[in-house]
Parts: sequence; structure tokens; C-alpha cells
Amino acid sequence: MGTVRAAASGPGITIRAMQEEDLSAVAAIEVASFSDAWPRSAFAELMPRGYARLRVAVAANGEVCGYCVLLLAGGEGEIANIATHPAWRGRGVGRALLQEALAAADEALAEAIFLEVRESNAAARALYAAQGFVQVGRRRQYYQQPAEDALVMRRARGASAMSPRSADDHASPSPFSR
Ligand SMILES: CC(C)(COP(=O)(O)OP(=O)(O)OC[C@H]1O[C@@H](n2cnc3c(N)ncnc32)[C@H](O)[C@@H]1OP(=O)(O)O)[C@@H](O)C(=O)NCCC(=O)NCCS
Repeated sequence: MGTVRAAASGPGITIRAMQEEDLSAVAAIEVASFSDAWPRSAFAELMPRGYARLRVAVAANGEVCGYCVLLLAGGEGEIANIATHPAWRGRGVGRALLQEALAAADEALAEAIFLEVRESNAAARALYAAQGFVQVGRRRQYYQQPAEDALVMRRARGASAMSPRSADDHASPSPFSR
């Protein structure tokens, strides 16, 4: 258990728990992916926490090609971070990471999973919608560099793709979300 083959074209990937030796690669992907990148220490501090589930996608040659951070607490889950190395995007890595996290949350009986996403982040929004997330709120000017609203998305336990709907200004913030 614990490994998943991505439904990607090209070489398969494996998903496994993030380890100390992955942190440099993870931090490099993070910087390449976000203007407000988490520092390496944010991943290091979360790794041993019981409520945090950090996973990396690893290529056949050992290269870390993406990661996902799922937080599970109080019967709910949160996708606090997910990114694919720019060179690996569009090959199913993000979907594999997300599906693996959602399966874990379902298994843990989390009633729902939340996340925040920049309104302009079309790739991530399409990824989430395809996995059953729907918009349930908006945090105005939540992000900096550049300032932008965050859309709050929710996926009910076991949900598959659903039609989008919206209900602005709902749900509580998390210091980790993006
Ligand atoms: C969002 C992100 C994680 C997607 O990872 P990825 O490995 O490229 O995604 P996948 O190849 O698994 O694609 C899965 C689905 O995502 C959507 N998607 C991915 N890239 C897309 C793009 N450029 N435009 C539109 N939809 C896109 C599609 O729905 C796609 O499914 P499809 O191939 O059947 O159309 C990646 O673009 C990334 O790391 N972005 C920067 C970090 C980020 O924005 N993280 C999310 C923060 S909320």
C-alpha cells in the first residue's frame, strides 16, 4: 500500500511519504510554482505532525516531480499545498497526487475536504473540479504578489466530478492554505 501509478503518458510515477531527503527538491518546486512560496522549514515542521500527510510523486529515475500536503483534523481535510515540477506538468502527476490524497481522506472518513485557489489559476481549478470540488466561498484579496481573491472549494466525502456552483463568503481560513 502507499504507492500509486499515475495515469500519465511516459514513465510512471510512484507516490510515497515525503522524507527529509526530498526537502531540497520540494522547496525548489515550491519556489518555481508560487510567488508566496512556503519555506523549506514549513514542510519540515509539518512532516512529523500526526494530522499532516505529505506525499511526493517520484519518477522512475528517483526525481521528485511533485508533492501534496493534506491536513486531516476534526473530521475534515484540507489540501494545503499541491504542485508539480514545471517540467512534469500536464502528464497526470497533479491528478495522481490529488486522487491519492482524496482516497486517504475518504479512508479516514473525513466528511469533506477544503482548499483555496487563486481565482486566475485555471489549471488548478480544472484539476479540482474534475475531482468533485465545488466552489463554496470566496476570500477577497486573500493572496498577495499579486493581490487576488481566493476561491474556497469543497469536496464531500466520496464525491466525484460535479457541476460547479458558488456561495460566496463562507468557511473559515487556515494559515496553511493557498
Ligand atoms: C495545478 C497543477 C498542480 C496541476 O498539475 P499537473 O501535474 O500539471 O496536472 P495534470 O497533468 O495531472 O492534469 C490534471 C488535470 O488538471 C487540469 N489541468 C492541468 N493543467 C492544465 C492547464 N494548463 N490548463 C487547464 N487545465 C489544466 C486538467 O483538468 C487536467 O486534466 P486533463 O488532462 O484530463 O485535462 C500544476 O499546474 C502546478 O503545479 N501549478 C503550480 C502550483 C499550483 O498552482 N498549485 C495549486 C495551488 S491551489
